[in-house]
Amino acid sequence: MNTYQVRIVRSDEKGVSRGVETFSVALADRMTVLDALFSIQANQDPSLSFRCACRVGMCGTCAMTINAVPRLACKTQVGRLDSPSVTIAPLPNLPVVKDLVISLEPFFEQWKKIKPALHSEARDSNELARIPAGSPYARETPRKRDCITCGICYAACGVKATSGEYLGPAAINKAFLRILDPRDDATEERLDVINGERAGIWRCHTQFGCTAACPKKIDLTDTLVRLKRAMLFPSKLKKLKKKGVSKAVS
Ligand code: SF4
Ligand code: FES
Repeated sequence: MNTYQVRIVRSDEKGVSRGVETFSVALADRMTVLDALFSIQANQDPSLSFRCACRVGMCGTCAMTINAVPRLACKTQVGRLDSPSVTIAPLPNLPVVKDLVISLEPFFEQWKKIKPALHSEARDSNELARIPAGSPYARETPRKRDCITCGICYAACGVKATSGEYLGPAAINKAFLRILDPRDDATEERLDVINGERAGIWRCHTQFGCTAACPKKIDLTDTLVRLKRAMLFPSKLKKLKKKGVSKAVS
C-alpha cells in the first residue's frame, strides 16, 4: 500500500504555533483528507485536533486550508490533490483554537449584523405567503440558499484578510436573499448595514476568491455585483422584490 506524507500546521490549546509536523499515512482508495486526519489521530497522535460532523459536505465544520486552498476536508480526496504530499493548516482570517480548529465567532458576528432572520410586519397574520415557482425570488435564489456557513469564503477573501470590519461574502449573500424575499420588511435596515463605509459591500474588490472557493458553488461575486448595482438604482430592487410573491392563498 502507498504511503502519503501529511504535513500539519499545529498549535497548542492557546492557539500558539508549534510549527509543522509530518506524518506518514497509508493511502486507501478514495481516502479523504478527513479520513487521513482520523487515521493520524487514531494511530499516531491522539492529541491532533480538528472538527467535523456530517462527513458528507453538509455541515461545513471540517473547513481547513488544504495545499494552500480553503476546502472541506471530507470532500477532498487525497488521491486527487495531484501532489506527493498534502499540507493542512487552519483557515486564515479566523482565530485558531487548537491545531486545525478555528473559532467562527467573528464570522457569525458579521452574520448577525445583517439581521439574518426573516423580519415580516405580517408575522402574526394567518395568511400564507405563496412564492410562485416562476417568481424572481424563486428563480434567483435556489443556488444562493445553499450556504452551510463553513467560513471558507471568509477565509478566501483578500479584503477580509486586511479588514477585520468587512462583513464578508457569506453575510452579504444572506442579506441579498432577505432583501429579495418579498415577505421581508427590513430591506432599508439591511441596506444601511451593507452600505457602511468600512464594513460594507463597497470594500469588495471583485477578486472572485470567495466564488472560486465556495464548496457549494454559490456565485458570491454575482451576488455582490448585483447588490451594488441595485444600491445604485434602488428602483430596480423594489420592482424585483414586489414581483416576487403572491400573498394570500384564497
Ligand atoms: S457562501 Fe459558500 S463558502 Fe461562504 S460560508 Fe456559505 S457555503 Fe461556505
Ligand atoms: S464534516 Fe460536515 S462538511 Fe465536512
